[in-house]
Amino acid sequence: MSTFWDRKEKPYIVILFCLPFVWMFVSLLMGQYFPDPGKLLMRLSGIWASVAVVAVMAMTLIGKVKSFRFINRYRRFIGLTAFFYALLHFVIYLVLFAGLSWTWISSDLVEKPYIYVGTLALVILAVLALTSTKAMIRKLGKKWKPLHRLMYLAAISVIAHLWWQVKDDISLALYFSVFLVPLLIMKIPTLPSYKKLFKKT
Ligand code: HEM
Repeated sequence: MSTFWDRKEKPYIVILFCLPFVWMFVSLLMGQYFPDPGKLLMRLSGIWASVAVVAVMAMTLIGKVKSFRFINRYRRFIGLTAFFYALLHFVIYLVLFAGLSWTWISSDLVEKPYIYVGTLALVILAVLALTSTKAMIRKLGKKWKPLHRLMYLAAISVIAHLWWQVKDDISLALYFSVFLVPLLIMKIPTLPSYKKLFKKT
């Protein structure tokens, strides 16, 4: 690969994945999302979280090709990006949708059960983010890899979250499924490694 891919590209990758956040933030300050900023920001943050989930899933596969191995060093960063946008989506829900009212949330949960699977994806991304440090990789040893394969369950939850909330427009659910479903199918052969999670080391 060219000498560009010699860690010099790192700042550009960071800027690229921070851009949607900066763009959302500036547009919000400029009043572009009014009168209903919650609705649009919820959709945008959800879309960017999904994009990052697709990116992580695709990276594990592309990173196996010899000349693309360099992308493996960005997997952690893109995983953290997915967590960041999912957390942002969650905060927007709590603040702009629910106005931090627990009574409102509990009645909304009855109406929108797809929130549960979204939350499952968020919790998995949080666990993976917390266990992605060098110290945790060392501590978890052989259990680290099967644990981090929970990313597939997170991807399945995202697909369920998107299809479950479809009313008439299926486009977004369809676009993300077109990427995620084949990537998930290709991962099926790695599933037996889950046995390692329950083995004593
Ligand atoms: C990795 C985690 C998640 C991803 C990738 C994700 C993705 C998305 C996307 C792309 C949409 C837009 C769908 C559309 O407009 O057609 C959306 C909508 C929504 N999500 Fe999530 N979501 C996640 C987690 C959550 C969590 C934790 C919550 C709950 C607090 C949540 C609540 C919602 C709600 C209420 C909507 C509908 C917003 C509306 O009515 O316009 N999501 N999500």
